[in-house]
Parts: sequence; structure tokens; C-alpha cells
Amino acid sequence: MTSIKIAGIGGSLRKDSFNTKLIHQAKELMPHNSVMEIISVGNLPLYNQDDDENPSKEVMAFKDSLRSSHGVLIVSPEYNYSIPGFLKNAVDIASRPPVDNVLRGKPVAIMSASSGAFGGMRAQYHWRQVFHFLDMKQIGRPEVFVNYAQEKFDQSGRIKDESTITLIRDLLNHLVNAAIEYSHIQ
Ligand SMILES: Cc1cc2nc3c(=O)[nH]c(=O)nc-3n(C[C@H](O)[C@H](O)[C@H](O)COP(=O)(O)O)c2cc1C
Repeated sequence: MTSIKIAGIGGSLRKDSFNTKLIHQAKELMPHNSVMEIISVGNLPLYNQDDDENPSKEVMAFKDSLRSSHGVLIVSPEYNYSIPGFLKNAVDIASRPPVDNVLRGKPVAIMSASSGAFGGMRAQYHWRQVFHFLDMKQIGRPEVFVNYAQEKFDQSGRIKDESTITLIRDLLNHLVNAAIEYSHIQ
């Protein structure tokens, strides 16, 4: 069977990001028949439609990594009740031009960590609207919101709480199952 590759996009640009810890935790918890490649988005330019015909090498490498994946995991902070600009920029780049949209139809799952009580819930629902437009196959359940994130990670950056680990495993299993189906129709 094809080894399933999930592209992991997210974390944040700050050094001690909870979302970066969360994406690394997810990578460790991937089901046995799959791997996650964490793709950095910090070096991408701001999206400019004028560059569609002549993308930079960073943009080409980013899109190639997504193109060769069978599914996507987005691990997103919540900024001002919504999606952080640097991550939306990465998704905008991946989606253009329409003939080279490397996200359309792909399975996608979302997780978030925040220092607040709702764990990034509002950002996740805004992301779901974006996934809908891109015609991605969204994994609806379980929803993984890591709230009060400053209390949830140990010294080595791993989630302390077993119930959250179980939810992450469950979400990744659903994502990989959808990615297996996607790999058959590709
Ligand atoms: C610009 C900005 C806006 C924020 N807005 C929200 C928000 O709307 N909801 C929330 O729960 N936390 C918000 N926070 C707090 C973040 O949850 C917190 O900074 C978190 O650590 C960011 O994720 P990171 O640790 O991965 O960088 C905001 C933080 C920043 C820097």
C-alpha cells in the first residue's frame, strides 16, 4: 500500500509557539501507515497575483510538497478571533493560480492551541469556510481545541493530558483514512 503523506502546515512564527509544539506532537502520533512532513511557511513571500506566472523557488518548493501529499493538517493559532495572516497567506499561495491549485479536493483536518478559554475555536470555524471554498474534504470530528495552552505542555513540549492525546490520534486516524481514499482516486 502507498505510504500516506500528510503535509503539516502551522505552528506560529514565534520561538515557543504552542501551535508549533502541537504540530510536532501530531507528527509523533501519526498512524503507522503514514508520515507527516511539516512544511515551513515562514519564508514565503506575501501573495501577489502578478507573481502567478513566475513563482519564486520558495513558492515552487512549497507547492511541490503540498502537491505530493495525500492530505493536509493545519495547526492554527487564533488571532483576533480569526485566522493568522501568515497562514492564510500560505493557503492563498497554495490555491493559485486556479490551474495549479494544490489544495482542491484534498482531505484536510484542523487543530488549534490558544492561551484563552476557547482554544482557537473561532479561528477553526473561519478556516472551515476557506476549506469549503477550496472544495477540500474536511474532517469534521473530533474537534481538537487546546485551550489554556500554557498549562497543557510539559518541559519537552509534549501534551500532558491523555484525553487530548486520544482526540489528536482520533482526528489523525480520520484524516489518514480520508487520505487513503484520496490516494486511490488521484
Ligand atoms: C495578534 C494576536 C491576537 C490574538 N488573538 C487571540 C484570539 O482572538 N483568541 C485567542 O484565544 N487568543 C488570541 N491570542 C492569544 C494566542 O492564543 C496566544 O498568543 C497563543 O500563544 C498564540 O499561539 P502560539 O503560541 O502558537 O504562537 C492572540 C495573540 C496575538 C499575538
